[in-house]
Amino acid sequence: MSAAWLAIDGLGLTEGATRIIDDVSLSLAAQRTVVLGPNGAGKSTLLRLIHGLLHPSGGRLHWPQPLTQGMVFQRPVMLRTTALANVIYGLKLKGHSADESRRRARAALARAGLDHIARRPARLLSGGEQQRVALARAWALEPELLILDEPTASLDPASTREVERIIGEIAAGGARILMTTHNLGQARRMADEIVFIDRGRVLEQTPVARFFNLPQSEAAQRFLQEETP
Ligand SMILES: Nc1ncnc2c1ncn2[C@@H]1O[C@H](COP(=O)(O)OP(=O)(O)O)[C@@H](O)[C@H]1O
Ligand SMILES: [Mg+2]
Repeated sequence: MSAAWLAIDGLGLTEGATRIIDDVSLSLAAQRTVVLGPNGAGKSTLLRLIHGLLHPSGGRLHWPQPLTQGMVFQRPVMLRTTALANVIYGLKLKGHSADESRRRARAALARAGLDHIARRPARLLSGGEQQRVALARAWALEPELLILDEPTASLDPASTREVERIIGEIAAGGARILMTTHNLGQARRMADEIVFIDRGRVLEQTPVARFFNLPQSEAAQRFLQEETP
């Protein structure tokens, strides 16, 4: 993928006197982009603006072609019903028939390795299982862009690996991935390109190997030193 699928022009979000997102201009063309930056840098806010959950104070998003989007958060929000019904719900909302919704939901759960928990109450599943249900729910809708905000931040290593596998399969199906993480190993594994932000500003946008080997900005160098064990 070389043509930009999203061009961001002078995007800003101000709350009171604080510029949470400060004049961000970016052209996103990579298939898998990971946004890195210190706590409070504005990563979640940027992703929410892109997904349309927040309205910018200024600037604009230009989508060369409108993309169907899904978003997955650090803490999955499960309806008080079975895992299967959680996935079916989103499909019905999109206008699929009951039969078609059930068929697609079953297939998505199977691809996520969750056949065995389809009938279990979603809220009683482990955090890792709930996150995989959330991914299956997004996957079932066949998003062209999947946005993930720290999807493994509260998971153990085994669940993290499984979530990475599922995201990798969704990407292999052609979806663009835009995610944040605090896990630098995960950023190396999942990213084609890194966008580094600090205090609401984009300081770097570079291919993943170059970012980790030779970060350009001082802030990124400091960030990598502090975050590397
Ligand atoms: N609705 C809001 N009102 C005021 N400040 C906010 C709001 N949302 C986020 N912030 C602040 O904006 C900054 C960026 O937040 P966030 O996007 O969550 O950062 P990150 O995800 O990089 O940790 C933080 O300082 C946060 O406290
Ligand atoms: Mg965040």
